[in-house]
Amino acid sequence: MTTTREHDLIIIGAGPGGYVAAIRAAQLGLNVCCVEQAAALGGTCLRIGCIPSKALLESSHKFAQTRDHLAAHGVQVSEPRLDLSTMLRRKDQIVTTLTRGVEALFKKNKITRYTGHGRIDGLGRVLVETEAELLELKAKSILIATGSKPATLPGIALNGQLIGTSTEALSYSEVPRRLVVIGAGYIGLELGSVWRRLGSQVTVLEYLDRILAGMDAELAAEAKKVFEKQGLEFKLGCKVTAARVEKDQCVVEVEGQEPLRCDRVLMAVGRVPNTDRLGLEGVGIELHKKGFIPVNEQFKTTADGIYAIGDVIVGPMLAHKAEEEGVAFAEYLVTGRGHVNYDAIAGVVYTEPEIASVGKTEEQLNEFGTEYRKGSFPFRANARARTLNQLEGWVKVLADKKTDRILGVHIIGPHAGDLINEAAAAISFGASSEDLARTCHVHPTLGEALREAALGVAGRTINF
Ligand code: NAI
Repeated sequence: MTTTREHDLIIIGAGPGGYVAAIRAAQLGLNVCCVEQAAALGGTCLRIGCIPSKALLESSHKFAQTRDHLAAHGVQVSEPRLDLSTMLRRKDQIVTTLTRGVEALFKKNKITRYTGHGRIDGLGRVLVETEAELLELKAKSILIATGSKPATLPGIALNGQLIGTSTEALSYSEVPRRLVVIGAGYIGLELGSVWRRLGSQVTVLEYLDRILAGMDAELAAEAKKVFEKQGLEFKLGCKVTAARVEKDQCVVEVEGQEPLRCDRVLMAVGRVPNTDRLGLEGVGIELHKKGFIPVNEQFKTTADGIYAIGDVIVGPMLAHKAEEEGVAFAEYLVTGRGHVNYDAIAGVVYTEPEIASVGKTEEQLNEFGTEYRKGSFPFRANARARTLNQLEGWVKVLADKKTDRILGVHIIGPHAGDLINEAAAAISFGASSEDLARTCHVHPTLGEALREAALGVAGRTINF
């Protein structure tokens, strides 16, 4: 027997896009339900992405700091010992706390949660395969927020922990002696850093002739130098053609080169939209050639009353981009007005130092023929960075040559991921580099480096 339930809005997927859209729509007075197949709410970000990786980045950073950097501060400790199971347990506890937090938010906002796989079965109709029964949900509007999954390569058969994705690399049962990472993007660099700090010999294979594709090239080149000092080995221009397990060892084949042998392979060659068994064909939604769901600026698909946000639509696959879209979607739906400023969505790589960017890169400005001026400032000239003993990196501000409007900010250095929020706010408000340069920044803080870089646009840097 099929039970039928009616709501105003059905959201498929409870990741940062889906759960934030659910809360905003509920705040605006809709009767909302959310269908999620995983036992825990929060999506990839909370369960197997941003949050567990940041927990491990923090723990492995503490381990490496204690081992390598305390002596410079005059703190003598004996060789630290790694307790990997405690480190992994701490990470799992953080995930549990945060996913339960989303459950509490659902209760507070009276959002109904259904556990099971959701499939669109016609306009305004979603079928949910729960453990006990087949549920029929009806609503005027349906939002697809099903996120993404790791991309695979032909020739590579995933094999749990030995040849796996970021999901497995968040829970290796031991520190691999030799880890090969395929792909020098966000995931490869963050998780490659974690295991390097814990003692692995890490080789990163990248198809392009640079790391961090799409980020500002000067920033990426600086990052590569810093990572190499930390012992990460890069092989650029490497096309991986196959990977397999041979007698408990992994063998990675690279076009035109000797195969590499290692204990673990981490596949981090991007992510693809997750549209598996969603029933899109039935409602006439045709996917882009890269698998994305096409939408208009109000997140409407070609099917009446069906919308999509987050990693399943075009754009950077970032949790905070999905959240922005979730809010804008709900506001469009209920009030007819909503907005996402895609120029002000920053990207952060949480390595040490952190790498953060917002707005346009120099390459994009040159490509579009936009004339710009550039100011930069190194952290080694920033007093707070000195006291932290974190002298690597710099801030770069790019501003329109005529109007002085800030077009892009790129930071590699301590707490870059927090500093970039000020730059994103400046871009959101249409600030000029002069606005940032004339804002009094607290001394001594890392934020002064951003102000100094803004001063540098007009050649007025004070401390360098
Ligand atoms: P990515 O797109 O950032 O990097 C993948 C890299 O793999 C590219 O540089 C690509 O050239 C390379 N590659 C592709 N095929 C290859 C081959 N056959 N051999 C060698 N290299 C190859 O993807 P990544 O790191 O997997 O991350 C996926 C998504 O997750 C990204 O869109 C990212 O935005 C998001 N993410 C964001 C994080 C953050 O905000 N801190 C952290 C982790 C992921």
